[in-house]
Amino acid sequence: MDPVRNPYAPGAGQRPPELAGRDREVRQFEVVLERVAAGRPERSMVLSGLRGVGKTVLLNALRSLALSRAWGTGKVEARPDRSIRLPMAQAVYAAARELAPRHRDPERVDRFLGVLKAFALQTPPEARKGVRWRPPYEIPAARGRADSGDLELDLTELMSDAAELAADLGVGVAVFVDEMQDVDSAELGALCGACHEISQSGAPFVVVGAGLPHLPTALAASKSYAERLFRYVLVDRLPREEADRALIVPAATEDVEYLPEALDALHAVTDGYPYFVQAFGKATWDVAPKSPITAEDVKVATPDAEAELAVGFFGARYERATPAEREYMRAMADLGADRSGDRAVPTAEVAKLLGRRPQSLSPARDGLIKKGLIYAAERGTVAFTVPHFGSFLRSQRT
Ligand SMILES: Nc1ncnc2c1ncn2[C@@H]1O[C@H](COP(=O)(O)OP(=O)(O)OP(=O)(O)O)[C@@H](O)[C@H]1O
Ligand SMILES: [Mg+2]
Repeated sequence: MDPVRNPYAPGAGQRPPELAGRDREVRQFEVVLERVAAGRPERSMVLSGLRGVGKTVLLNALRSLALSRAWGTGKVEARPDRSIRLPMAQAVYAAARELAPRHRDPERVDRFLGVLKAFALQTPPEARKGVRWRPPYEIPAARGRADSGDLELDLTELMSDAAELAADLGVGVAVFVDEMQDVDSAELGALCGACHEISQSGAPFVVVGAGLPHLPTALAASKSYAERLFRYVLVDRLPREEADRALIVPAATEDVEYLPEALDALHAVTDGYPYFVQAFGKATWDVAPKSPITAEDVKVATPDAEAELAVGFFGARYERATPAEREYMRAMADLGADRSGDRAVPTAEVAKLLGRRPQSLSPARDGLIKKGLIYAAERGTVAFTVPHFGSFLRSQRT
C-alpha cells in the first residue's frame, strides 16, 4: 500500500499515531496536576521500563497535558557523567518563558530570571560542555538566592521561586527528566531532597522522571524517603487488546483493516512491545497489496521489519559496546535463553561461563550498565534493558 500514507512511527521518542494502553497513567497525571495546582499534597510520578516500551512518548504526552492546563513546562535529558544543574536551569527557563507573557508583573519575572541565572552560573566550566544553552545575558544575576553551590539547596530555591511565579497565574511548573537513571547518585539525592522540600511547602512544582527498570532502586539508594516521594509507574509491553488498538486505529484513519489472523501473526512477533508494534506495523503496511491486511502480508514483511530492527534498534546499541562488553553480553544471551525470551542471569554464572573471576569482569559489567544496555536486576543478577536483545545476539551468531 502507499508508503506515503503509512501511519506507523517506529523510532526513539517518535509520537505514535495512537497512544495505546496509557489512559490510566494519563488520568493519574491529570489528578496530580489538579491537586498540586490547588496546593494539595500529591506524589509526582516516575516511569520506568525497558527500552522501547514508550517511556519518552508517555513523558511527552504528560508534558502536553501540563501545557494544555497552561502550566509552565520544561524537559531534561540526563546524560551519564553530566551534572543536571545547567539542564535543569534550561528546563525551568523554558517553563518561565511559557509563563512570562501571561504574567502581569514583568519586574517579578525578571527578578526570577536573575535567580535562575545565578543558579545556572554555579555550573563549573567542565560541566558546561555539550550544553549550548546559556542563561539570558541581558538580565543581571541575583545574589544570595539559588547560588550557594549546594545543588539541593539551590534547586529548592529555584523551584520554589519558579512555583511562585506560576502560582500567580493559578498554575504550576512541571519538569520532565528523561533517562533519569543517568543522573549520578549525589545529584539524584539532591533532586529528591528539593522535591521533598517543595512538596512539603505545597508549592506547585512537580518533577516527573522516566528511566530504565533500575531507576526506582537508584532513587531509593540516593534518598531513603524517595519511595514515598513518587508514584512508581511501570511502563510495560501492551496487553493484546491494546497492541491491537495501536495497529487498528491508525490504519482505520486510512480506511485500512486487518484480518484477525494478521493481528495474531503480528502479536506473535511483536510480543506487545510498542517499538516492535510500530516497526512490524510499518513493514507490513508497505508490503501489503491491499486492505484487509492478511497473515501472509505479515509473513512477507517480517524479514524487512527484522532487518530494520537489527540496524535501528539492536545494532545501534550493540555498536556502542567494546569487545569485552560484547563478550559479556553474548554470555548473558546464552545463559538467559528461555522460552519467553531472556531472563536475568547471575553475574557469577556469566563469570563461570567465561572462565574468569567475577571481579575481573566488573569493568565490562559497569560499562554496559553505564551505556544503558544492561541493568542490575535482583541481587547479583543482570538483565538486558533492550527487549529481545538476547535472541538478537543469539541469531547473530549463526
Ligand atoms: N502506547 C503506545 N502505543 C503505541 N506505540 C507506542 C506507544 N508507546 C510508544 N510507542 C512507540 O514505541 C516506540 C518507542 O517509544 P519510546 O521512544 O517512547 O520508548 P522508550 O521507552 O523511551 O525507549 P528508550 O528506553 O530506548 O528511550 C516509538 O516508535 C513509539 O511511537
Ligand atoms: Mg526514551
